[in-house]
Amino acid sequence: MVDVYIEDLSSHVGEHVTLKGWLYNSRSGGKIVFLLVRDGTGLCQCVVTSDGVSPEMFESAKGLTQESSLIISGTMRADERAPGGYEMDATSLEIVGFAQDYPITPKEHGVEFLADRRHLWIRSRRQAAILRVRHSIIRAIRNFFDERGFVLFDAPILTPNAVEGTSTLFDTEYFDLGKAYLTQSGQLYGEAGAMALGRIYVFGPTFRAEKSKTRRHLTEFWMVEPEMAWYDLDDNMRLAEEFISYIVQTVLEERRTELNVLERDVSSLQNILPPFPRLSYDEAVALLRDEKTGAMIDERMVAIRAEQDSLRRELDENREKYKSVKEHVRRKFDAREIQINARLTEIGEMLRNLPQWKESALNFTHGNDLGGSDETVLTWYFDKPVIIHRYPSAVKAFYMKRDPNDESKALAMDVLAPEGYGEIIGGSQREDNIDYLLERIREHDLPEEVFEWFLDLRRYGSVPHSGFGLGVERTVAWICGLEHIRESIPFPRMIHRNRP
Ligand code: 4AD
Ligand code: MG
Repeated sequence: MVDVYIEDLSSHVGEHVTLKGWLYNSRSGGKIVFLLVRDGTGLCQCVVTSDGVSPEMFESAKGLTQESSLIISGTMRADERAPGGYEMDATSLEIVGFAQDYPITPKEHGVEFLADRRHLWIRSRRQAAILRVRHSIIRAIRNFFDERGFVLFDAPILTPNAVEGTSTLFDTEYFDLGKAYLTQSGQLYGEAGAMALGRIYVFGPTFRAEKSKTRRHLTEFWMVEPEMAWYDLDDNMRLAEEFISYIVQTVLEERRTELNVLERDVSSLQNILPPFPRLSYDEAVALLRDEKTGAMIDERMVAIRAEQDSLRRELDENREKYKSVKEHVRRKFDAREIQINARLTEIGEMLRNLPQWKESALNFTHGNDLGGSDETVLTWYFDKPVIIHRYPSAVKAFYMKRDPNDESKALAMDVLAPEGYGEIIGGSQREDNIDYLLERIREHDLPEEVFEWFLDLRRYGSVPHSGFGLGVERTVAWICGLEHIRESIPFPRMIHRNRP
């Protein structure tokens, strides 16, 4: 008898095997108990009958509680209707750890309730699927750069200065040296790495003490930051679109099952291949302010109001039928009600937001940074990520190179994910002229002394160079189709949450 993982069951049909896992759900009737077992790699239904196992085993199967750990053996059978496609006829069952009153039951729980129990919530099928996709994304990130000759270059987490503006730093006392800060970005160190090694990528956790309470912001998140000597802005944009496409196509290859569990529409992901549409900031602003944007938002409102009506009707109909239908249909209705209510909440929020978003788009002031809603509205025009380049230098970081053709613009680029997921990449060509860079440092009121080493990179063999940063969690949220970024990382850190 062999120990197997549920994900490998397809090669064990007809064999006698052992599964080690936890009870996900169960139901019983008379002489039969169905145990839905999870082992971290998938779910498998195990059928325990009073004839198939000893009387003690049968009794313990009947009394088994959710999340009790167990070892179960039996013969595998292919069954199309079973979750995962295989079912076990059990011949023996051993309970390893009996679970008492597991707090997360198959019914619906509030988000705060679940977030307080994040250490258990990750056992649920949906959360486990997200974490598996995350794993594939991170591996794809490494493979992409490794296959192209980039060198992994680790930047420090404790730093003496800000990279992306001083207002969002977490600080800590650093012995006799005064304050140290948790890094917001490894970029400046990455630039040193690129001058030493040609093409590098920094990959690690980054920290922002942002007071933003949006569904896109964490205070601790993972960022991958490639930095390339001799790359200009165009090279940078090409790398970014190839990179994102590679990640998405890898997830599609490796994680179909998980995307299914997440009910993710994969057709919108299959489309993610280079080239991506590019808009200059000026073009983006013109598009935002165009009448057709107003009309597009109005159309959206009409469409989601229609959806709202039809969902409400379905709810009413199901409630009317509820008393007269069988138990298993009721369970289906219950599940559907949870789904409908979640969607109705989303719709309500959209209907409240859209008039403001329309206002903001149509009255957008040229020269301002794009707001979250403006980004979202722009992405509705495209079915791929869109690259916005050449922002006003006033709204971008000090290290970005000015556009030689228009001094008011920075050679910056942001990549906005489709379906309203917002900015997933921020990057630029870097200022390589020491005099201009010093000017920027002074304009931004940054302490010159701490940047001395950074200026050395311009003193000793300065070259054109570029790079960008991709936020892992926003990428996970987009690819998985998540409502909120909090589900994209095992233990999210946000302005109002730092536990468990
Ligand atoms: O645009 P940002 O601030 O760029 C930088 O930090 C550059 N130094 C990167 C570089 O050029 N090497 O951040 C880059 C990306 C964003 O596009 C977003 O995906 C993610 O990091 N990000 C966040 N993700 C989650 N929560 C937050 N608070 C985030 N802030 C940025
Ligand atoms: Mg940015």
